[in-house]
Amino acid sequence: MSACDAAKTTRSSRSVSLFNAGPAKLPRPVLLRLQEELLDYNGLGYSIMETSHRSAEYIRLNADTEQMLRELMSIPSSHSILFMQGGGMAQFSAIPLNLMQTKGRTAAENGVETRTADYVVTGFFSSKAAQEAKKFGHINMACPVPEKFTYVPDPMTWTPSSDASYLYYCSNETINGVEFPEIPTPPAPHAPLVTDISSNFLSRPLDVSKLGLAFAGAQKNAGCAGLTIVIVQRELLDHCDPRCPSVLDYGVVEKHSSIYNTPPVWSVYVFNRVLNWIQEIGGLPALEKMNKAKSNVIFDVIDQSGGFYSSTVEDKWRSRMNIPFRIGGPNESQELETAFLAGAEARGMVGLKGHRSVGGIRASLYNAVTEDDVFLLSSYMEEFMSANH
Ligand SMILES: Cc1ncc(COP(=O)(O)O)c(C=O)c1O
Repeated sequence: MSACDAAKTTRSSRSVSLFNAGPAKLPRPVLLRLQEELLDYNGLGYSIMETSHRSAEYIRLNADTEQMLRELMSIPSSHSILFMQGGGMAQFSAIPLNLMQTKGRTAAENGVETRTADYVVTGFFSSKAAQEAKKFGHINMACPVPEKFTYVPDPMTWTPSSDASYLYYCSNETINGVEFPEIPTPPAPHAPLVTDISSNFLSRPLDVSKLGLAFAGAQKNAGCAGLTIVIVQRELLDHCDPRCPSVLDYGVVEKHSSIYNTPPVWSVYVFNRVLNWIQEIGGLPALEKMNKAKSNVIFDVIDQSGGFYSSTVEDKWRSRMNIPFRIGGPNESQELETAFLAGAEARGMVGLKGHRSVGGIRASLYNAVTEDDVFLLSSYMEEFMSANH
């Protein structure tokens, strides 16, 4: 056995607490179920991965998964549910291609663009989304972009434009740890709200009726990479740019019940099993309660550390899913942060390094992260502080 294999054996034989930002931890009961069903899906004698997407078996799985999501999130019939591919980033293009309509100013009047959308930039991913959308039309920044992504400008001060087709925001910035505690209410009138819920999807109830569109990659709270869930108001489906690739055209995907081309069969199946698990543990209200309790444990250690640990986000906008923090007071000590991460690894805590663009530490506390994982982390944070204060 090589040294590398030996190290892997040691790692796999002890318990690991996974704090990855995505792909991220899956619930243990789900993993066990996948293992159990891997070689024989539903009595077929072969796996779901080997099943035709045109088979009755897959068509049923696809429809059941959609229905289960509709029930769990109370998604009204005014909204369609689409299963797509290309990740969140594909949606950064699909959204302007599908929703930006020619309206308001005419090309003759302004000489350049007739398609407009409002964007609220509060972190890495909304910034990327706005950049991408610029390829397709005029982007109005609906509020000033914070110099450091530590808060959201008060939605009441936003300035939506009169000719925008939609107003885009990111519900939870995975890298910066900035989360909207509720759906924002900007000054009226404003265009339909479009939101990236990739990293707080299914972490709490969401009133979809207030949204034009919401999308999420599955690889945080909903299973594994390869599947993107799009929930879109049906009346927004009729404005797609004719140059839009068919696989990104919401109308086309909807018309084919998300089986226009080969869907990510395995990812849809895993999503289905995650939804089953969520149902069994009490649905979104139960998860919201657990997620509040878990994040409060870490917030309390940070807030009571006398500045040894510091949150990088203003209290009101602190994410309950991704908690970035620094160590060592106002000057932040990279030496202490490196030592903290090494100690965490040695205790079986993995995935705590902050994103390379911001540094520091980030604890991602998705649905599958257990209270035990969180207590292990909070105890270690206290122990580390006592030893280094
Ligand atoms: C909030 C958010 N939006 C979009 C993305 C991009 O998703 P993908 O990498 O699946 O394209 C991510 C990825 O982590 C994300 O966290």
